[in-house]
Amino acid sequence: MLDAIKIERTTSPKARPQDDQLGFGKYFTDHMFIMDYDAAKGWYDPRVVPYQPITLDPASKVFHYGQTVFEGLKAYRTKDGRILLFRPTSNFKRLNKSNDRLSIPALDEELALQALKSLIEVDQDWIPHAEGTSLYIRPFIISTEGSLGVAPSRQYKFMIILSPVGSYYAEGINPVSIHVESEYVRAVAGGVGNAKTAGNYAAGLKAQEGATALGYSQVLWLDGVHRKYIEEVGSMNVFFRIGDKVVTPAINGSILEGITRDTVLQLLNHWNVTVEERRISIDELVEAHQNGSLIEAFGTGTAAVISPIGSLHWNGEKLVIGDGATGELSKKIYDALTGIQKGELEDPFGWTVQL
Ligand code: COI
Repeated sequence: MLDAIKIERTTSPKARPQDDQLGFGKYFTDHMFIMDYDAAKGWYDPRVVPYQPITLDPASKVFHYGQTVFEGLKAYRTKDGRILLFRPTSNFKRLNKSNDRLSIPALDEELALQALKSLIEVDQDWIPHAEGTSLYIRPFIISTEGSLGVAPSRQYKFMIILSPVGSYYAEGINPVSIHVESEYVRAVAGGVGNAKTAGNYAAGLKAQEGATALGYSQVLWLDGVHRKYIEEVGSMNVFFRIGDKVVTPAINGSILEGITRDTVLQLLNHWNVTVEERRISIDELVEAHQNGSLIEAFGTGTAAVISPIGSLHWNGEKLVIGDGATGELSKKIYDALTGIQKGELEDPFGWTVQL
């Protein structure tokens, strides 16, 4: 039987940032959720506490062997004052898939959702109001056993922190320019590329730094075996509109199974747009660009929502997509998705969960 969630409120609330200063992941709310795990006890002591630093043994396995997983989801404030979570059960399901891959004990998904609801209830005044803003939710687990043997930890902490956010990219819904990476790879099937774990993001930093230095917003990863098939973009899945079809890389064991990716696929199916989930080579994109059939490209992710891609840079060439502006389908998907998330459009899929 799981313990009830305890709630300890802060006695010194922080000053809240203005909605127009938010950016991404810079501010954190007054409270956090935390729960511990010990191999002898299972998960125990779920609690909402004032946001605070945590103390860890320097030998904690997370620091040395990276045994950690995380999620990202959002809560929205509707115009009529309701609070909506978007597909939270999909995130906790995926967290458990990542847990399994990283040999971390599973969480009770219902308790995790209850924990999230309790935390948001306490910090609800932090959900921003302005257009394009939301409350970003970061659940994560770290291994805390202080021991240097390479073996699954026998102790963990599960935490949830909340951050009021605006757009992930400075460009907002305007198109980003993307560098196609030819030197480094992100992941290979059989590795941890399809788990949401810190190492995937650490492995991407070097290429991201190089792309930033050249003036691009993000990196487009190619597969690690053939070095020619499209995988994903930085922190997003990727879609291309080629002729009268939309294509996106198939789930192949090395890309992240994005929840926004799945949401977009369901929307496109609902609109009877022909979609192909398959391998797409960079050569196919170059050819489609040359013959004028590469009409649109966009990334999808919780943080980034829908991010139109204005140009791809590959082998010294610049492939401007469409006319470099936000494509018609990208805009339609963005409007439908954000409209459902904010409770302004009907949600026939049952994606939103009201607090
Ligand atoms: C998200 O979209 O929620 C992510 O986790 C991407 C992130 C690394 C900013």
